[in-house]
Amino acid sequence: MLARMTQYQTITDADTVLRDGTIKLHGPEGFAGMRAAGRLAADILDALVPMVVPGVSTEALDDVVREMGLAAGAACATLGYRGYTHSCCISVNHVVCHGIPSDKTLKDGDIVNIDVTPLLDGWHGDTSRMFLVGDVPLKARRLVDVTYECLMIGIEQARPGARLGDIGAAIQRHAEGNRYGVVREFCGHGVGRLFHDAPEVVHAGIAGTGPELRPGMFFTIEPMINLGKPGVKLLEDGWTAVTRDRSLSAQFEHSIGITEDGCEVFTASARGLDQPPY
Ligand code: MF3
Ligand code: CO
Ligand code: CO
Repeated sequence: MLARMTQYQTITDADTVLRDGTIKLHGPEGFAGMRAAGRLAADILDALVPMVVPGVSTEALDDVVREMGLAAGAACATLGYRGYTHSCCISVNHVVCHGIPSDKTLKDGDIVNIDVTPLLDGWHGDTSRMFLVGDVPLKARRLVDVTYECLMIGIEQARPGARLGDIGAAIQRHAEGNRYGVVREFCGHGVGRLFHDAPEVVHAGIAGTGPELRPGMFFTIEPMINLGKPGVKLLEDGWTAVTRDRSLSAQFEHSIGITEDGCEVFTASARGLDQPPY
């Protein structure tokens, strides 16, 4: 049988970018575009820091995300995406991802992920962080810290010549070494002119396997780590994913680009607010 080969495609102009399963390789214009979109995404999360407090509704935070994007000339990529009607995802406590903003308010002790994707000049800046609401118990803070470490350990693997599987293997090792569960149902993804593109960036895997990383590849790493078992289930709304065992879940996400000698993190905070405490 013919083995499926990874195909790479060098992107020279916007018209050539199709969701055709190829891994896109970008040049300097792509890096410039993602740098601007990623910077805006990080600025939006920075601005939310003082607003994520007990009593605020997640819908009010969603409004801020939309207005900040619009003010900067960006659209929110999630708005209208496959029928999704909000400007970001807000996932509280045992919600793993894709929590829908609502009139529900945050309360003391909650851990919250906010995931934003402004679309600026045709480029998607996709990033998320955890926020701690008031006094958060040590057990939950530890989950948040280790999840951030998982993201950064994944990013450390990202350089030319490495394989995609190296990233998942490193993340899985760190998470499971702390007795946490790595969510398998959702993964990182190619990003750029398209919101979700090839390749799939899984957060658990085998080192030395998968496509080779090459300069110009843009993708997200976005591990979802559960305090309990890795299993998730989808709620009736068709979006909200929660842990099956109702244990707490945390996630951080960066959009990165492979460079000649490592990688560039497009969505790093200019103010150093990448992880709590802020
Ligand atoms: N931002 C999410 C990601 O990291 C995707 C959200 S899609 C939505 O890939 F429709 F749920 F908003
Ligand atoms: Co993403
Ligand atoms: Co995201």
